[in-house]
Amino acid sequence: MKFFIDTANLADIREAQEMGILDGVTTNPSLMAKEGITGKDAVMRHYKEICEIVKGDVSAEVISVKYEEMIKEGDELAELDENIVVKIPMTAEGIKAIKYFSEKGIRTNCTLIFSAGQALVAAKAGASFVSPFVGRLDDISTDGMELIAQIMTIFGNYGFETEVLAASVRGPMHIIRCAEIGADVMTGPLSAIKALLNHPLTDSGLAKFMADHEKANLSVKK
Ligand code: E4P
Repeated sequence: MKFFIDTANLADIREAQEMGILDGVTTNPSLMAKEGITGKDAVMRHYKEICEIVKGDVSAEVISVKYEEMIKEGDELAELDENIVVKIPMTAEGIKAIKYFSEKGIRTNCTLIFSAGQALVAAKAGASFVSPFVGRLDDISTDGMELIAQIMTIFGNYGFETEVLAASVRGPMHIIRCAEIGADVMTGPLSAIKALLNHPLTDSGLAKFMADHEKANLSVKK
């Protein structure tokens, strides 16, 4: 399973990249705004910076909602770097844009997926990724993981090449469940990835190893 980090924060992206397990980055307009990145030039510069840090897919979301504008914006984003994946919302206009980009060989990530039907339409239009939002479904008492499993089954039935990118991942158990189900990719905050490293028995085991090593060294010195 590929690990993407869902952020526009350069320090977090650098830290994840340095861990050596980062496969890509996803962003969205809210995440860009959170970092104070506003205005077209600043946005474009920021995407370039992200692409310089991570050698993997970087999803850059269009702000437009009309087909013609999405095309223009997406073309400009795709020109920034070969790793840019144009992120397009799941709307009728968005589906048309995904079809356009797919015919042009530009990769897309269809975002804001909340049902299997939406994922199926995006795959038929040629999306490279679909992003079902697991955490936001859980927030409204609907099993987000059930949707991931459903989409995996449907794509498997017909051999769609579209990758299932489990988005809105909130913590380590979401990541484990995604891996069990076989999602192609997951995207979440750095904290969710780092939480995978922790176990109290690892901490106490390491403390004991260090203490025993120290004790043995002291007795040899005596
Ligand atoms: C998807 O790519 C979105 O950027 C993201 O995963 C949304 O996550 P959130 O529900 O935690 O905002």
